[in-house]
Amino acid sequence: MKTLRVSLPAGAPGYPIRIGQGIMDAELRVLAEPWARELVVVVTNETLDRLFPSHIPEALKGLPARIESCVIPDGERYKTLETLSRIYDRMMALGANRQTLLIAFGGGVVGDVAGFAAGTFMRGIRMLQVPTTLVAQVDSSIGGKTAVNHPLAKNAIGVFKQPEGVVIDLRFLETLPQRELRAGLFELIKHGIIADRELFAFLEKQVHRLVRPDWANDGAFWEEALTRSVAVKCRIVESDETESGPRAALNFGHTLGHLIETLTHYESYLHGEAVGVGMLFAAYLSRAWGHLPESDFGRLRALLEPLVAPVRLPALDEAAFTELLLHDKKSAQRSVRYVLLRGLGEVFIRERTEPGEIWPVFRQFVREHATICQVQAA
Ligand code: NAD
Ligand code: GLY
Repeated sequence: MKTLRVSLPAGAPGYPIRIGQGIMDAELRVLAEPWARELVVVVTNETLDRLFPSHIPEALKGLPARIESCVIPDGERYKTLETLSRIYDRMMALGANRQTLLIAFGGGVVGDVAGFAAGTFMRGIRMLQVPTTLVAQVDSSIGGKTAVNHPLAKNAIGVFKQPEGVVIDLRFLETLPQRELRAGLFELIKHGIIADRELFAFLEKQVHRLVRPDWANDGAFWEEALTRSVAVKCRIVESDETESGPRAALNFGHTLGHLIETLTHYESYLHGEAVGVGMLFAAYLSRAWGHLPESDFGRLRALLEPLVAPVRLPALDEAAFTELLLHDKKSAQRSVRYVLLRGLGEVFIRERTEPGEIWPVFRQFVREHATICQVQAA
């Protein structure tokens, strides 16, 4: 087992992150013990409740607190204020108070909505994160960003709410559908690309394991890969907890990624899949504008290409591309902050980047990478 720590600015307590295979029972118990006094509410979804019905109550057996659950429906479309309201209702019905401990047990959707509930119920109660997808283990359970979606914008309403601890048990990944697993790989690799050249080199040497993840036989590799990747996320969060500056680097690949998700109505591609194509494009753009050496681009491409899920986009002209990049037609700001690379492990933010500068490079990218990013003819 590996342990990392998120250290927050003076005054705010940091928290431990435990990573390993089959560690959940023992580690969750240790982290919950100081806070599980009266009531613990486990927020999870229907799928996890079916797959792992008694895992958390078993782990906490013998602690003085009553263990109750709050099961929400499965899916991004339930990451809403309505679901949040259902969690508050359940907590009220259970007699929850400021001493109640909340445990978020699930993927990023559960973690984001349950984290929001913990950050706001009675002005904030203690919470532990037990992430069960690769996206949640390597990214969303760490750093305290929580949110629900608004019909007009993803993650538009939320609070920063840091947990008391995170337990990352690789065993949960054994039941995760291959497509979800593959999508999560991009967030893991992203941390190497933006801030850790050694992590990138480590993943490069093991690309065969990324292409065919085998948890049963490759446990040590995955523990190492996750730990190194999570360490990058911890460092970035520590440097800028509320994203006033450098944390924006974590959005590498997300500008085109969000465009792909929006253009396909969040139905065709998983977030990680869209980000995978977005990362390749951000690297392509960095090279095209003379920031990223050809050799680094070649290495990044060699790692990502066998993993990316090809996307097919509906017809897109420059005007639509521009509006999608700017998110909002009424936006006064006509430029974006693009996260680019100077080298592997070396990221920077190009301020005031205009869609008109990106469009010709995007067209060229689509021509050169037609098998990865196809745009239908108008
Ligand atoms: P998800 O939570 O929807 O989980 C994906 C699917 O896997 C779901 O059907 C879920 O029920 C199922 N599942 C979860 N664990 C499983 C397991 N062990 N075995 C079998 N099935 C399992 O999706 P996700 O990719 O985990 O998270 C995506 C969400 O995370 C998005 O809403 C995104 O905005 C958010 N996110 C937040 C942050 C952050 O910093 N807060 C970062 C990245 C992503
Ligand atoms: N997932 C992006 C962030 O935590 O900032």
